[in-house]
Amino acid sequence: MENEELDEYELQTQAIRKNMDQISRKILIMSGKGGVGKTTVTVNLANALVDMGCTVGILDTDIHGPNVAKMLGCEDGVLGSPDGKVLYPVEPREGLKVVSLAFAIPDPDAPIIWRGSMKNSAIRQFLADVEWGTLDYLLIDSPPGTGDEQLTVCQSIPELTGTIIVTTPQSVAVLDARRSVGFSRRMGVAIIGVIENMSGLVCPECKTEIPVFGIGGGQKMCQDMHVPFLGRVPMEVDLRKAEDEGEDFMKDGNTHPSRDALLEIARKINFGTACSTGRDTSFIGTPQCSPSSCAGCTSNCASRKK
Ligand SMILES: Nc1ncnc2c1ncn2[C@@H]1O[C@H](COP(=O)(O)OP(=O)(O)OP(=O)(O)O)[C@@H](O)[C@H]1O
Ligand SMILES: [Mg+2]
Repeated sequence: MENEELDEYELQTQAIRKNMDQISRKILIMSGKGGVGKTTVTVNLANALVDMGCTVGILDTDIHGPNVAKMLGCEDGVLGSPDGKVLYPVEPREGLKVVSLAFAIPDPDAPIIWRGSMKNSAIRQFLADVEWGTLDYLLIDSPPGTGDEQLTVCQSIPELTGTIIVTTPQSVAVLDARRSVGFSRRMGVAIIGVIENMSGLVCPECKTEIPVFGIGGGQKMCQDMHVPFLGRVPMEVDLRKAEDEGEDFMKDGNTHPSRDALLEIARKINFGTACSTGRDTSFIGTPQCSPSSCAGCTSNCASRKK
């Protein structure tokens, strides 16, 4: 690398550090297998955390299939850049900031034919040049696997809080999810926990649960590999519909087991980290911290309020 390029890279690294220092928790959502529900988890956790009073950013690093904007109903958004340098995120609702390549490519049918190096630069640019401001959470959606995008995120963000690994209960998905566990360990990044998505299908008519991809595979993997289990989210037609329509499923007034499950997971993550000191994530995996673990804690978690 030429000296000038090195300087540019170093300057960008410094800009990333400055930006990321303003964000309390930076979480990479990943999976080994495609289509298991990473984006679903990202957008619904983001909405749930905003409902709890948190400020949340979403960075969509799925360059080839950026679906976050569509699921949030803000695909017509444009990244503002009045001075041509700083990028301003799209804000589909108060407390939520979203950055995705989808906002920069007006034609939704246009394929993004990029090699790894181009993807790495785009992700680093989003981390460095976006005016994220002060946030409680940055949720980073990623494509399946353990490749360029995940590597760039882990190597570029100092003090990444951890990874959330999404899998279905099916053996082939679990097999790939185990690699995401291995990846996180190899990168030295904490595993916040595993979510077993599409864990049974709730029949919209009779409400019985059909084990389309089985049930319990993700939970069993957590026991085997000694990683925290965050919960299981069943398949539900209304969740899929809400995402296709770009509607906030968390605001759906009807009873939904999948929404309750996602809400419970958001609570675990929020109360867990809110009650920990520094970047300790050891509380994660419990519904809320116990009063004893709150001793000396200055957060507003439910246990402390008692
Ligand atoms: N619990 C669920 N119930 C019903 N539909 C779901 C559920 N989870 C995900 N889906 C649907 O399954 C499809 C795949 O989900 P999603 O796009 O979130 O997966 P992904 O892991 O992000 O995929 P990719 O690997 O392509 O990025 C979407 O159409 C989504 O609406
Ligand atoms: Mg996705």
